[in-house]
Amino acid sequence: MKEAMAKVFLIIWCIILQLGLIKATYSKMNEQTVNVIDYSMKNLTVMPIFQQNSTTDINLRGNLLQVVPALSFQQSKKLKSLDLSMNKLDLIERGAFAGLTELIYLSLRDNRLTSNSLHVGIFQDLISLQDLNIHVNFFSYEYTLFLQSEISHLKSLVRLGIDLRGQLQINKCFCKLSELQDLELVGLRRYSDNLFQNLKCLKIEILSLDSVVFLAPDTFICFPTLKTLRIRIVYRFATYDTIISIFNSFKVFKGKNMTEISIYNNPHRNGFVLGHRHFAVLQEICLQKLNLMADSILGIQFGPFFKYGYTDNCLEELNINLMFDSTDSYVFAFCAFKHLKILGIPHVIFKDNRLERSTQNDVSYSFCLPKTLEELDYHSNVKSYSTRRIANLTILNGSNLKALNMANVTVRDCNGTIYGIENLEYLDMSGFDCRVLSEHLLSHFPKLITLIAQDATLGIGLNTLKNASEFLKINADLKHIDLMKNSIKSLPDGLFNHPFRQKLTIILDRNNFQSLPNFPSKPNTFQLISLKYNRISCLSEDDMAKLNIIKPSSIFLRGNPMECSCNTLTFLTWVQHSGLISDVHEIECISQNGTLVILSQFLQNLKTYEISCQSKLWITLASCISAFISLALIFGIVYYRYRFAFEYFFLRIKMKLRHYQPLSEEFIHDAFISYSHKDISWVKTLYDNLQSKGFSLCLYHKDFKVGKPIADCIVEAINSSRKIVFVITEDFLQSSWGTYEIEMTRMHAFREGRESMVVVILKDDIEKDKLPKALKEIWYKVVCIVWPSDPDAPYNSEEIFYEKLCIALSDSRIRMNDDNIQMT
Ligand SMILES: *[C@@H]1O[C@H](CO)[C@@H](O)[C@H](O)[C@H]1NC(C)=O
Ligand SMILES: *[C@@H]1O[C@H](CO)[C@@H](O)[C@H](O)[C@H]1NC(C)=O
Ligand SMILES: *[C@@H]1O[C@H](CO)[C@@H](O)[C@H](O)[C@H]1NC(C)=O
Ligand SMILES: *[C@@H]1O[C@H](CO)[C@@H](O)[C@H](O)[C@H]1NC(C)=O
Ligand SMILES: *[C@@H]1O[C@H](CO)[C@@H](O)[C@H](O)[C@H]1NC(C)=O
Ligand SMILES: *[C@@H]1O[C@H](CO)[C@@H](O)[C@H](O)[C@H]1NC(C)=O
Ligand SMILES: *[C@@H]1O[C@H](CO)[C@@H](O)[C@H](O)[C@H]1NC(C)=O
Ligand SMILES: *[C@@H]1O[C@H](CO)[C@@H](O)[C@H](O)[C@H]1NC(C)=O
Ligand SMILES: *[C@@H]1O[C@H](CO)[C@@H](O)[C@H](O)[C@H]1NC(C)=O
Repeated sequence: MKEAMAKVFLIIWCIILQLGLIKATYSKMNEQTVNVIDYSMKNLTVMPIFQQNSTTDINLRGNLLQVVPALSFQQSKKLKSLDLSMNKLDLIERGAFAGLTELIYLSLRDNRLTSNSLHVGIFQDLISLQDLNIHVNFFSYEYTLFLQSEISHLKSLVRLGIDLRGQLQINKCFCKLSELQDLELVGLRRYSDNLFQNLKCLKIEILSLDSVVFLAPDTFICFPTLKTLRIRIVYRFATYDTIISIFNSFKVFKGKNMTEISIYNNPHRNGFVLGHRHFAVLQEICLQKLNLMADSILGIQFGPFFKYGYTDNCLEELNINLMFDSTDSYVFAFCAFKHLKILGIPHVIFKDNRLERSTQNDVSYSFCLPKTLEELDYHSNVKSYSTRRIANLTILNGSNLKALNMANVTVRDCNGTIYGIENLEYLDMSGFDCRVLSEHLLSHFPKLITLIAQDATLGIGLNTLKNASEFLKINADLKHIDLMKNSIKSLPDGLFNHPFRQKLTIILDRNNFQSLPNFPSKPNTFQLISLKYNRISCLSEDDMAKLNIIKPSSIFLRGNPMECSCNTLTFLTWVQHSGLISDVHEIECISQNGTLVILSQFLQNLKTYEISCQSKLWITLASCISAFISLALIFGIVYYRYRFAFEYFFLRIKMKLRHYQPLSEEFIHDAFISYSHKDISWVKTLYDNLQSKGFSLCLYHKDFKVGKPIADCIVEAINSSRKIVFVITEDFLQSSWGTYEIEMTRMHAFREGRESMVVVILKDDIEKDKLPKALKEIWYKVVCIVWPSDPDAPYNSEEIFYEKLCIALSDSRIRMNDDNIQMT
């Protein structure tokens, strides 16, 4: 199916080409994309079929292929490079590489090839092959001879990687490989003097031995043209004399010019101190680059090293992995080297005894470097504490130094200035203890481009600067700043407020920022801002506005406790529309239901979410309202049931509050009771009851003087009583006098400022609507007491009724009467 489609596609493609519709540049671009096929690390178990005849590059590295079938690359006649390394190949069929006459590079490295995997003439078509890697396979001793003879047909071979197993000599047939320069050998651990005898015919320049345990002294005597030697020790089998035998074997290079000698992988237990016997050998060679890379070297002896540096040598690059140095200090020996450009002495633990003793309290001191030095890597893999202060440090002969890595060389403070390396472009001061920081730490590095200061307690240092504007003032070329892991909560004002020549990339990962740092609101200052793993839950409107101005190309925010909820909707909308946040696919945010979601996925449905937020708002509002209503309802029911109780308590409270009002007048009566004559018997009982409780009451028939007009009588009664009590019954409402009295009372009450003097007793279940208008108008001032008609309701007995009435009537009485009405 795929094939058919590919063919159809090809035909269409050809038609298009024939029509000449495609511009030359376009087709060229297309050609380029077809040329390289990368199927690396795809877990392929079967060789794919390659159709294109223009493919030049096939990468099948790191799959699970077991077989290379015949004619696999038949179509790919233009193939130049084929990588089959790191598969599980145990069979290469006859003719597998047929037709690959242009192949230059072939890697079969790291497979399971054995004696039965290859056939005679397997490489015969590979007439252009220059680079063959067939090492790290399972070939047996006998088989390597066959392999060597097969390989010897590859006349154009320049580089070869091959296994050697138990060989005493390499076969003479290799002499046919007249172009061979670069040989990598695996599998042989002990190298004898005459192993390479048959290779004298060749001009090998680069030799890599990949599994060394021992080298005989004359191992390399047959390589007169050797320039580069790389030795990898077999970690498991190395013995203490491994390194001795290796240095001994270098003696044959005496007086020669060599480009590189590298030794890797000397195990810990064979650690040695680089001393006289090693330098004595090296001194005789004009060596440009020396790599001693492993955890193997315990230290360097100062004397021999100093001497090596002083005498003529060609060393331009020195990389030594130091494990531990407690014996001596070689720091001062470096400046004697005449050609040294690159110096890498990363170390695990470094104890600088000499410096400690001499400069612990010094404030001014100096170091010296080789004049030619351009790169110095002096970092430590673990923090190595030094009691040294930076104070006033001068580096002599440092004018060529461009890169300085001092990571984890933890100085005691950063309160100082470094002079003498004015051309520095790269500085790594990670791990310094910069709690005490000088504004001028970097002020003699005017060309600084990259500043790395991770884990340097700058969160404290930067914020205690007297004038943070001074700190980066001079470093106008800065481009890359890495302040990871400094516990920074905020940046001081003005730190970045300088006219930098290039846009800055600033890494502030793993700090404590909760919002956007204090950057200047200027466009074209920042290229990239990385704030991964801080404490930002969302950006404020100010932050977003600022970022809209700054407009960096990318911002990274993954690892922050981002919030994806209706509260952060503005932020989320901004993220989607601005496109400034570059890692939305990696940011996880906490959604409203507490689950983590990938921000980019969340943003895909933002519109729907927005709507649901609005409806949520309505739902909240609606539920608020309904909650309110049901509460009111419940309250209403409760109130209705306990209405008398409420009345009672409110009354008590109300009256209590009033108790302390001073009395302005004395009255003859506590109350004037206005009632309908038809209710006289009930009122009589009321009267007696109150009378017995000590109240003086004015009743119509009892107190009104005969002969006076009734209206005058009423006014007088109102004036002489503190309270007016209306006993409102059906009959009262019918009588015209009742309404008249109310009207009178109302007018009078307002005139005299005695609005609160009215008490109403409601009998006969009279609804409020039926009350006279005059009474309704002052209802809010009226104390209303209902005669118990429903004796089942709590707090609705006659007893309580009287209690209420007493309270109402004793309001505004003088305080000493209070006790009389106290009911318990
Ligand atoms: C290949 O297989 C390994 C192990 O089964 C798996 O972890 C890896 O993701 C696979 N790679 C691809 C590209 O499928
Ligand atoms: C590649 O194949 C196309 C058509 O399939 C053909 O026209 C072209 O000549 C071939 N090129 C080579 C170099 O074989
Ligand atoms: C080593 O190289 C120098 C120049 O760098 C040259 O003068 C000298 O002749 C060379 N020595 C040998 C032995 O090739
Ligand atoms: C500076 O370097 C030169 C040559 O590398 C050296 O001779 C001189 O001693 C050095 N200066 C100091 C002060 O070490
Ligand atoms: C510095 O030391 C710490 C541990 O002390 C280590 O985790 C870190 O990787 C070191 N940094 C470098 C650059 O080696
Ligand atoms: C720092 O040391 C240099 C000499 O190494 C000296 O010229 C300079 O005055 C010193 N500066 C301070 C502030 O001590
Ligand atoms: C920092 O250095 C300055 C000048 O060298 C000095 O006056 C000051 O006391 C130092 N501060 C601290 C905290 O050591
Ligand atoms: C801080 O330093 C800047 C830059 O050197 C300068 O312009 C400013 O006046 C200084 N501010 C104070 C308060 O010293
Ligand atoms: C939580 O919310 C997210 C997005 O709002 C949604 O995709 C997810 O299904 C929800 N999970 C649960 C358990 O409700």
